[in-house]
Amino acid sequence: MKSDILALILTVSCAGFLLNAQEQVHPIPHLAQNGGRYALIVDGAPYLMLGAQANNSSDWPAALAKVWPAIEYLHANTLEIPVYWEQMEPKQGQFDYTAVDRILAQAREHHVHLVLLWFGTWKNGSQHYMPEWMKLQPERYFHVTNKNGEAVDSPSPFATESLEADARAFTAFMLHLKATDPERTVLMVQVENETGTWGTLRDYSPAAEKLFEGPVPAEVLKAMNKTPDKSTAAWRDVFGLEADVCFHAWAVARFVGQVAAAGRAAYPLPLYANAALRDPIKPGAPGSYESGGPTDNVIAIWKAEAPAIDIVAPDIYLPGTEAYLKVLDLYHRPDNALLVPETSGSASAARFLFSALGLQAIGYAPFGLDYTRTHPMQNGEAAAQNAFLEPTAQNYRLIGPMMRDIARLNFQGKLQAVAEEEGKITQTLHFGEWDAVISYGAAGRGPAKGNAEPVGRALVAQLKDNQFLVAGYDCRVDFRPAGTEQQKKSQQIVAGTGQIPSALIDGKWQHRQFLRVEEGAYEDGAFKFLRILNGDQTDWGLNFASEPLVLRVSVSTY
Ligand code: DGJ
Repeated sequence: MKSDILALILTVSCAGFLLNAQEQVHPIPHLAQNGGRYALIVDGAPYLMLGAQANNSSDWPAALAKVWPAIEYLHANTLEIPVYWEQMEPKQGQFDYTAVDRILAQAREHHVHLVLLWFGTWKNGSQHYMPEWMKLQPERYFHVTNKNGEAVDSPSPFATESLEADARAFTAFMLHLKATDPERTVLMVQVENETGTWGTLRDYSPAAEKLFEGPVPAEVLKAMNKTPDKSTAAWRDVFGLEADVCFHAWAVARFVGQVAAAGRAAYPLPLYANAALRDPIKPGAPGSYESGGPTDNVIAIWKAEAPAIDIVAPDIYLPGTEAYLKVLDLYHRPDNALLVPETSGSASAARFLFSALGLQAIGYAPFGLDYTRTHPMQNGEAAAQNAFLEPTAQNYRLIGPMMRDIARLNFQGKLQAVAEEEGKITQTLHFGEWDAVISYGAAGRGPAKGNAEPVGRALVAQLKDNQFLVAGYDCRVDFRPAGTEQQKKSQQIVAGTGQIPSALIDGKWQHRQFLRVEEGAYEDGAFKFLRILNGDQTDWGLNFASEPLVLRVSVSTY
């Protein structure tokens, strides 16, 4: 008997020791913050998620065979894929982890990390992933009630039994991850999907009405910077036309915050909630966008009510450069790391990965990039099957090999990146004594005119005072000594004119000269020198076309 107990103690302490050792080898991924910049720390260093999100119904054996070849083609380092509550808890309290175990095993085989999406109570505002046993009991797991007293296709954030069931299931899932993923294949977890409600602004059930007529909670007033005359002021008094949306955001965030907190207590991976957006330039009236999710007008409510959610993250499908850049700006906040968990993978949108990097994004993932949907072949060519993947693949072929350096330099505040904007032929990035001037559409030796389609993008990182890492596509990059705007010459180099980027500094013209322009390739995460570029290759600036090109550039003045 004694020896049995001894054996048990030994086994438990060995398991504890092994777990500890694993934690040391692969610490739990976490977010780090440095001077307002964020990084996702994986295996002890900043990591950039170059992701792709699978289609919604792709996490099944028959479909996964059509996911991995696309991930390989993309050179993605992370797959975002759902975990379905309805599959995981087919009977109340009975959890089936087959799908979780399968995706973990397959991701490891393919040397790819995972971000798992908990399709729980909310999926695009509806309750479609609730298990059948819940769907069949709508009186317990009830829906939002609209103004006419009708149940709508959206779960009520006031359904306590739904909250309890979701928190239990999410906790079970996180505990299972903790036990089965010592390798930290899973980097982050998305809690729910595009929460909120379409078709009605909020729950108008009698219980919800009572709360709506009651005082706005103090933490909401504080978060939204409101100081009403009376502390008992109701939602309508404080928020006017946005009262319903703010109320619903409060209710939904509280629900999701509790689910997240329960899961996080089990296993503290970074957690985020994604948002279906409202138009950031001309936001329509409430009702024109999904109500209750973390839209830009209620981020502060989400932050206050769901502190277990580390990041609120925009799903960006909006057309137009101005709108895209505005969204990035709105979700890049001192209290929120920028993460783009869904976006369009189109050729015109792909360049915005660079805009996101310019705001220290920790990750980016276009949506629907697997072979489970048929994509029309262009001109009947088989190669065109991959046309829908190619814009993202082009980005990842360049950035993938240098991902760790990019993430580190960005976290250190040494990196800047931009994408071409319609009508802007040049963009200038400031690095202390140097400006990096990016110009677009400079064909051959002529001046820059802007690309026919705005597809240009560049990233520049300062390695030393006079040394830069430069990469990009469809642009020209040059360096100019920094001076005041009036004192600068040569926004762009025009071949054959002898123009050199210069600036008048302390009454003396300073001209840029290249000391050494090294072309390299990243191998095992390190820049490997290939050759020195000079002559025709640098006399008209540093030109980036559609093939991956990484340069390490040393400059000085004469
Ligand atoms: C946004 C959702 O979050 C995704 O799950 C998916 O439904 C896409 N929309 C479809 O475009």
